[in-house]
Amino acid sequence: MSDKYIADVANSYTDEMIESAKIVAAKRDENIKFEHARLTADEKDEILAKYHPDRIASQFAELKIGPNKGEKAPIELAEMLQAKPRIEPEDVDLSKVDYEADVLVIGGGGAGTSAAIMASEAGAKVLLVTKLRVGDANTMMAEGGIQAADKPNDSPAQHYLDAFGGGHFDGKPELVYTLVNKAPSVIKWLNDLGVEFDKMPDGTMVTTHGGGTSRKRMHACKDYSGAEIMRTLRDETFNRADKITVVDFTSAVEIIKDDNGNACGAVLMNMETKEILIAKAKVVIIATGGAGRMHYQGFPTSNHYGATADGLVLAYRAGAKLLYQDSLQYHPTGAAYPVQILGALVTEKVRSLGAKLVNSKGEVYIHPLETRDVNASGIIKQCRLGNGIKTDISEGVWLDTPMIEKINGEGTIEKRIPAMLRMFGKYGIDIRKDPILVYPTLHYQNGGVEINKTCHTNVGNLLVAGEASGGVHGTNRLMGNSLLDVVVFGREAGIEAGKIFKDIKMPAKLSLQHVKDFEKERAAAKIAGDAVSPKLLPVYTFGNTEITKMPF
Ligand code: FUM
Repeated sequence: MSDKYIADVANSYTDEMIESAKIVAAKRDENIKFEHARLTADEKDEILAKYHPDRIASQFAELKIGPNKGEKAPIELAEMLQAKPRIEPEDVDLSKVDYEADVLVIGGGGAGTSAAIMASEAGAKVLLVTKLRVGDANTMMAEGGIQAADKPNDSPAQHYLDAFGGGHFDGKPELVYTLVNKAPSVIKWLNDLGVEFDKMPDGTMVTTHGGGTSRKRMHACKDYSGAEIMRTLRDETFNRADKITVVDFTSAVEIIKDDNGNACGAVLMNMETKEILIAKAKVVIIATGGAGRMHYQGFPTSNHYGATADGLVLAYRAGAKLLYQDSLQYHPTGAAYPVQILGALVTEKVRSLGAKLVNSKGEVYIHPLETRDVNASGIIKQCRLGNGIKTDISEGVWLDTPMIEKINGEGTIEKRIPAMLRMFGKYGIDIRKDPILVYPTLHYQNGGVEINKTCHTNVGNLLVAGEASGGVHGTNRLMGNSLLDVVVFGREAGIEAGKIFKDIKMPAKLSLQHVKDFEKERAAAKIAGDAVSPKLLPVYTFGNTEITKMPF
């Protein structure tokens, strides 16, 4: 067995961890054979009600202003949605336009690049702005795969039932329908662009189960699926440099509107110099991604550095309605040890390949492929009951990774999940021999800006795609439907923008009146505090409490 992934450092498991891991090892053969029954609908409701972080009422605040006034949002998001704008509208010279394009795409992840590619394909001149670099995005961090019903025993209808049911029947039907029906053609598009999907010797795609899937429809590129897809989309974006202008390290801080209240550009800020720039466009697409770096409830996160819910703030201040802004996804298996990788994603594929969740007593207490919200709640429950394993920095349950090679044969881990082998191997932990400690990590924003199937919001010419949108996944997303979402709806937004820009005249006059109105609303509602939004980047300076109030 190759040891090239395992650093020559002492595996630092504490004595308590070692003792508990011995119990897990002793019961491994018995546990492999044991199939835990799926929970009934009532059992799921009960565990969610008692243990899911979204159900802790004190962690949510009522929105006092804006299109969702009277509804609740996580405290940290409510603060950003109602915070002071970064600019004073009076200080911004809207007559000095720095960039002009048919379509402005805000965000350089999977959704933004897919939108830019499709809009450029339709002949639009595209400007893509991103606050970091193209590809610094949650798409890049995605590991396990992308769902599509393209095997003979499967169908988009079956995929619809899984996604709609997994989302507690809260998904917007037109969005779920679009997601699942476009999926097979999206896999073909990505494959044709050059994504190196895992394939059998005869060329057919390897597909596996994810939590809540009734068919094996997870297509993957080992456990680097997002990185491989993002690599390809980024190359394609740069290949179209004649049509797509990329401006990186530049964030959008406010949407600009025309006299009719339609979106027609954005106020931009250079992240280094803080210079304010103006971009004017006929159509604006927000594709700014997720919110893990908001560290809701003090949770660590699997998200990339820039995931700070900016798109929700931009859209909200421009008058766009949000949907399910109070629904977050805590991925059950974030790394809970060692501290250097706290919250990093341990892909669900580890469980798809056979690893089970085991408590400190060596008990398999749940089916490993329950939906994510249920499995996250199950881990929290075990820890609350005293069946977790405590370390100096965290608590968690075991994910018994050595089961994988016992079930599938030696070499499976290196072949199918090399990123996991490497991530833990750096700290002397060989996941082929030792179980790993996991606890839920803030992974995904289920809600976002409400859209229809062509990605329009209630604000004219303002489209949203990807994780910044809400409604595709209801109130719980299944594994592999996020990579799918960003490509399906990124493409749909680009196709739609590529259609409508031809009939839109470039506005003569730009306005930030909506920002002035928002400030009046803030004052009338007596919103206190000095918070400024969009947040743009998290703050990890010493003494900042964002992540020090960890939820263990
Ligand atoms: O577990 C995972 O690999 C995550 C996938 C996803 O969020 O879709």
